[in-house]
Amino acid sequence: MALRNILTEEDELLRKKSREVTSFDDRLAELLDDMWETMAGASGVGLAAPQVGILRRAVVIDVTPPDNGEAERPAEPARYELINPVIVLSEGKTLESEGCLSVPGITGMVKRPERVKVTAFDRNGNEISVEGTGMLAKAICHEVDHLEGVLFTDIADSVETLS
Ligand code: NI
Repeated sequence: MALRNILTEEDELLRKKSREVTSFDDRLAELLDDMWETMAGASGVGLAAPQVGILRRAVVIDVTPPDNGEAERPAEPARYELINPVIVLSEGKTLESEGCLSVPGITGMVKRPERVKVTAFDRNGNEISVEGTGMLAKAICHEVDHLEGVLFTDIADSVETLS
């Protein structure tokens, strides 16, 4: 595994539409492994392949609650790899704060659905389906936007610079 460089908003690649993954091969597995490592290194909850300069429809999401040492049991891991994700259902509306590893130092209030269902493939090419609310729904929508070349700052109701 290797850390990859995370592109920031001025990079044109982040504005391009990513292509579908067609080969579920070792290269894809390596990309995903690197994305996990890169995301963890940057303390992110989601990362899309275009953020590391690869214009392919692959995202990783980790919405495992932080372990503050107070819970009796560690939280259930909530880690997802979504290849060629398609949002097939979205319900409800929320307006919440979000940020992005490619837009450091900025947060914004973004309207998102409260619940989404997504179909996708895993790294082996098996079809999967994931339903999420709250943080997971927000992360799925945010990462799928990256695959279309959309950053949260494009669609935010308001943005704020962190001091
Ligand atoms: Ni992002």
